[in-house]
Amino acid sequence: MASQDDANELDRAPSQGVGPVYMSSTDKPTATVSTQVSHQNITILPQTPQLIALLTMIRDKNTNRADFIFHSNRIIRLLVEEGLNHLPVREHIVTTPVGKTYNGVRFEGKICGVSIMRAGEAMEQALRECCRSVRIGKILIQRDEETSQPRLFYDKLPEDIADRWVLLLDPMLATGGSALMAVDVLRSKGVPEERICFLNLIASPEGAANFAKKFPKLRVVTAFVDKGLDEKNYIVPGLGDFGDRFYTL
Ligand code: PRP
Ligand code: URA
Repeated sequence: MASQDDANELDRAPSQGVGPVYMSSTDKPTATVSTQVSHQNITILPQTPQLIALLTMIRDKNTNRADFIFHSNRIIRLLVEEGLNHLPVREHIVTTPVGKTYNGVRFEGKICGVSIMRAGEAMEQALRECCRSVRIGKILIQRDEETSQPRLFYDKLPEDIADRWVLLLDPMLATGGSALMAVDVLRSKGVPEERICFLNLIASPEGAANFAKKFPKLRVVTAFVDKGLDEKNYIVPGLGDFGDRFYTL
């Protein structure tokens, strides 16, 4: 049962009626939705009933690991599909089987994924499902549990990464320390910030602001900007430790 403190917290979070368009607004249940932020570099997925239901599932501490993986994967797939919208395309005209032309587009340029281990690896499968045989690099960064400071252990990246568009993968953006460190690694290999798109499941307002300030040309695609951080720099209301829930709990 929610405490009075919880109730006060929820009062301050943005909420709206969520449900199909044909339902009247009075019949729609009210749910907490993403905090809106004004940074130009961030795209928040539309707060559809599907997305809110999937997020509700993975935020629930009683959701077991199998369900956590299944529902996280569905959100991650939405993030990858949206992330691909931020890559450049060029004109591509094709002829259909009935002999007519269709003016379309096709993706331009080479891409690669880069996951921030461990949790970011959970996003690789969805990227592979959308982009067959995509190259994937890894950066092992771990956040110190006491200080919340990130530590870089190693990186293994495609040799020609400087010529590629990079989809950077990490489900949690808390202080932003880990993801910012990963971007520094990519930039040290010659990837300009405007060729990086960071795909993220839940962000804190602080993490989003840190990103926008340091790398304003880097695109961030997230499913949800949460209320904030707690005293241990965990995202609240959040979902706990993503890596533990996906891999070990
Ligand atoms: C988590 C998460 C991010 C980081 C976010 O990883 O996956 O990488 O913390 O926090 P920050 O924005 O404050 O840096 P963690 O280091 O706990 O390792 P894990 O992937 O093994 O769970
Ligand atoms: N890492 C997580 O997995 N969750 C948080 O809330 C913060 C960092």
